[in-house]
Amino acid sequence: MLIIRKVSELLDYVGERRQQNASIGLVPTMGALHKGHLSLVKRAVEENGAAIVSLFVNPTQFNNPDDLATYPREEERDFRLLAEAGAAAVFAPSVEEVYPDGAARAAEHVFDLGRAAEVMEGIHRPGHFQGVAQVVSRLFNLVRPDRAYFGEKDFQQIAVIRNMVRSEGIDVDIVACPIVRDSDGLALSSRNALLDSAQRALAPEIYRTLRDSVPFSRTHTVEETRDYVTGRINSHDGLEVEYFEIVDARTLEAVDNWEESPWVVGCITVYCGKVRLIDNIAYRTPNN
Ligand code: PAJ
Repeated sequence: MLIIRKVSELLDYVGERRQQNASIGLVPTMGALHKGHLSLVKRAVEENGAAIVSLFVNPTQFNNPDDLATYPREEERDFRLLAEAGAAAVFAPSVEEVYPDGAARAAEHVFDLGRAAEVMEGIHRPGHFQGVAQVVSRLFNLVRPDRAYFGEKDFQQIAVIRNMVRSEGIDVDIVACPIVRDSDGLALSSRNALLDSAQRALAPEIYRTLRDSVPFSRTHTVEETRDYVTGRINSHDGLEVEYFEIVDARTLEAVDNWEESPWVVGCITVYCGKVRLIDNIAYRTPNN
């Protein structure tokens, strides 16, 4: 596996692979890799001639400086895991390489991310999705991938990136991959490494509640389901719901009743101590 630090090397590498007619799959990550990331990498390896993984803790998407400072970084371990998963190359650039004119200059371009960027994370993490769009559009423009892989754990991020691709006119297939969970149900996240052992024992209650709320939702209204989830999670000392929204999966607009859309998901953010965890669950899907 090739380790690439410089944009110029990345462009050379991509050019060579294109000349060999290899299709290119891109997996953008911020490192501290776990099996959730690796499921995306494996899929990109299977579906493309070359899988390129980017590993970059993007400062422009962090609205909280503490979150950026404490974000886990384990580059050597990440490289080993990526090589084992079959990645052809990893792009692990410096901030200057990604934003040669400075992050402030990059922020001058305001992306049209649609309504999907204005709800949920859009309200609680101002500027976050503009930062995500900055880095992902930069990666797309450098790599020009045929396909790019994103996890449904960040359900809203996928909708926002689809809007970004549409408004910027970028030709790439966005592939959504299912959430990978630990054996106790907790959605894998790089931030789980920041939980102490008591918090780690408490955190699976988030998914247990979401899971139990699906049969509950069959006999209760949207509002009752919302109250059930929020009330049960908040009843635990050490867990605090920041938001829980039951939304149309395509528009991310809140629904008032189950018949409003064939595809309805619940998206949640919970503080477990100082660690912000996110998860989501489908209540209705077009197939059932
Ligand atoms: P990061 O949090 O590192 O996640 C990288 C990718 O892995 C995202 O698409 C995310 O949804 C996916 N992922 C994380 N945990 C997962 C899990 N448990 N199951 C399945 N997929 C999972 O998301 C970002 O980085 C950044 O915003 C990024 C897109 C790289 C832009 O900086």
